[in-house]
Amino acid sequence: MRSKIVAGNWKMNKNLAETEALLTELAAKLPDTTAEVMVAPTFVNLATAVNSLESSTINAIAQNMHFAESGAYTGEISADMLQSIGVDTVILGHSERRAYFGETDEILEKKVKTAITKNLRIVFCFGEELADRKSGNHFKVVESQIKNALFSLDKSAWGSIVLAYEPVWAIGTGETASAEQAQEMHAFIRKTITEAYNAEIANNVSILYGGSVKPANAKEIFSKPDVDGGLIGGAALVADDFVAIIKAI
Ligand code: PGA
Repeated sequence: MRSKIVAGNWKMNKNLAETEALLTELAAKLPDTTAEVMVAPTFVNLATAVNSLESSTINAIAQNMHFAESGAYTGEISADMLQSIGVDTVILGHSERRAYFGETDEILEKKVKTAITKNLRIVFCFGEELADRKSGNHFKVVESQIKNALFSLDKSAWGSIVLAYEPVWAIGTGETASAEQAQEMHAFIRKTITEAYNAEIANNVSILYGGSVKPANAKEIFSKPDVDGGLIGGAALVADDFVAIIKAI
């Protein structure tokens, strides 16, 4: 079902004490909202986050996951491990994973399939680089990213997918896609899914925008009909900013 979502991706920030402090502040300041609110702390503090959010509606989610069920993959985290601490959602395909850790469409397709098999919900990230946008290839790039990783899924899997369009040139740069650019791409994504599957699946999938969402621009971006919320990086690390973004939805 399509829902409004505000998710905070904490990346490699916040140690244990800082994690606890931010979660306490967020839980205390969380406004009344019908939107789903998620935060993704580092793996080291994920179990702590799940426990400390037990009486809150904020959902602690994972930033990544390996595709194998278990085995000799030093430093990696499995779907079972996430579930065993009470995590039900995982971010996959973040541009930093793609750029710095070699995650290809092929690897991501495997991760997505494992997550679906293990009943995890997925926040699947994708987006073009600056050169793609400058050369007018941004629609083609986005289409191939979602097609390669997601279009072999059964229709039934789409109930577990949330999409996050994050143009790489807007992540952590302070430069945001305009609300019109976000809307244009989100509408294109729905059209692409309609063609590959059907309109019902396309209309039911939540599509988040990510890339320098801040309290000052959130309202305008979220006002667009095909934008169902945001994946927030830097601004999710400051309780008042994240709360202001939640209020904007
Ligand atoms: P940003 O990060 O909000 O700091 O640009 C967004 C993201 O990487 O999800």
